[in-house]
Amino acid sequence: MVRRIGVLTGGGDCPGLNAVLRAVVRTAMGRYGWEVIGFRDGYRGLVMNEYVRFKDSDVSGILDKGGTILGTSNRDNPFHFRIDRGNSVEYKDMSERVIDNIYMHGIDCLVIIGGDGTLTSARDFARKGVKVVGVPKTIDNDLSATDLTFGFRTAVDTATDAIDKLHTTAESHHRVMILEVMGRYAGWIALESGIAGGADVILIPEIPYEMQKVCNKILERKRAGKHFSIVVVAEGAKEKGGEMVVSKIVENSPDPVRLGGIGNKVAEEIEKMIGVETRVAVLGHLQRGGRPIPFDRILSTRYGVAAVELISEEKFGMMVSLKGSEMTAVSLEDAVGSLKTVPPDGELVKIAKSVGVSFGD
Ligand code: F6P
Repeated sequence: MVRRIGVLTGGGDCPGLNAVLRAVVRTAMGRYGWEVIGFRDGYRGLVMNEYVRFKDSDVSGILDKGGTILGTSNRDNPFHFRIDRGNSVEYKDMSERVIDNIYMHGIDCLVIIGGDGTLTSARDFARKGVKVVGVPKTIDNDLSATDLTFGFRTAVDTATDAIDKLHTTAESHHRVMILEVMGRYAGWIALESGIAGGADVILIPEIPYEMQKVCNKILERKRAGKHFSIVVVAEGAKEKGGEMVVSKIVENSPDPVRLGGIGNKVAEEIEKMIGVETRVAVLGHLQRGGRPIPFDRILSTRYGVAAVELISEEKFGMMVSLKGSEMTAVSLEDAVGSLKTVPPDGELVKIAKSVGVSFGD
């Protein structure tokens, strides 16, 4: 018999986290009469026992709010947890401490909302016998076990809005405007916002580009009397035979590599090779912040309700997943570790090419 569940949000934040929390709390408390304990700042709250006992009023008015009322972290791995000791740093496996805390609170199941890193730890807790269910979150949309992660569509919306704005200034100044977007090792945000925003060039990690081909596209447009071009670059894009551009290494993060800087690299090369004035906008964390669009509010609510239903059916060690238009569930074992990247011969790349987009290939 379930009486009390725990919930946490882990990894980079993303629009829709609060909508999931609201759905989890309302369904668990309102429909099943369970108590809900929220752990603060991702796994850190579970390790350090920092938590809140949810009341219904805590989740009122948060459906449309970006971020997460619980806080999050993409640095705290409970199996390799950073402990600062004055001048030195130590890494320790704190998973047993987490299990003690779960036991102490009398928690029957944990809802873990996160991306690949957070859900990999959820799987590892499931392997240790902890009852968990996962909810797939990330603006990158790179989880292979679900058709869509919540937050992605809002990020695409934000990026498309930025492209629309860059269009008018590019046209006025007869410039190339480059927009660098997030997405880590997957080009989904660049591809979808690029198509929606009418980009002329889209560069994604899955299709290594050649600078000469990028420049040819810009020159071809000039010859056709179009004296500006829009280039959307995914942060993980790379030149044929080249490497991704790394902006920093975050030591204790499950994935320590932070990408960034490719936009400036491409801009410098365009100016050097064909002398067309080029400017760069790096959209950065604007893609992660702010209000979720209605689509993501609904998807997040569906995920939150589905996670609680899984618990009521005692289906533990699973992640809720969207397949087509159906809400379903997959085992956490199958849900993590393999990224969903853009198929270079997929339909979206094909339609983009049909309407004249260059991928620099
Ligand atoms: O995974 C989400 C994401 O926003 C990526 O698109 C990006 O590469 C990374 O997180 C940025 O991480 P941070 O918030 O640590 O800068």
